Amino acid sequence: ARLVVLVSGAGTNLQALLDACVDPAYGAQITAVGADRDDIEGLRRAERAGVPTFVVRVKDHPTRDAWDAALTDAVAAYDPDLVVSAGFMKILGKRFLDRFAGRVINTHPALLPAFPGTHGAREALEYGVKVSGCTAHFVDAGVDTGPIIAQETVPVLDDDDEDSLHERIKAVERPLLVGTVGRLVREGWTIENRRVRIG
Ligand code: GRF
Repeated sequence: ARLVVLVSGAGTNLQALLDACVDPAYGAQITAVGADRDDIEGLRRAERAGVPTFVVRVKDHPTRDAWDAALTDAVAAYDPDLVVSAGFMKILGKRFLDRFAGRVINTHPALLPAFPGTHGAREALEYGVKVSGCTAHFVDAGVDTGPIIAQETVPVLDDDDEDSLHERIKAVERPLLVGTVGRLVREGWTIENRRVRIG
């Protein structure tokens, strides 16, 4: 299967996918990595792995719709079976989601539907929950509202700050994302009344 991965930052989830894709039995190849900004480690990880990259910046487009169209075209050029938003910090537009309907997944650093949005780890900590984790889900038009594919939990410790909690979450998020993408591409999936079934 062909994957396009979208990133905005460090790209450690991308790296886990790049590493998994080395094994042909994994069943996927990353055909391109896209970003909404330059000069990020995520793009450098792709370049080091010999994977093509592209950057589509909001500020280079007159409107958000024009950005959405440009991102859609850039991703479509690689004809992905699955698009993986892995730390991509922009809300995908209507055109994008229509073009890749039902084939876009995201990883989120909280147990959805709790703490959607940009600061999932921080808001879980501030709320005072004792367990948090991460969620792999399909992307719909809302913010972190699409059908849930898989989740993993971590404890919240008394002396955590945002960084320590987020790092503990990311340690389980990377294998969850790799495992989830692998199962999706190898086994296929159905979604019925929001409930995702793999295989
Ligand atoms: C992940 O925790 C992702 O869920 C969140 O941002 C982080 C990205 O990490 N939205 P990385 O860029 O993959 O290292």
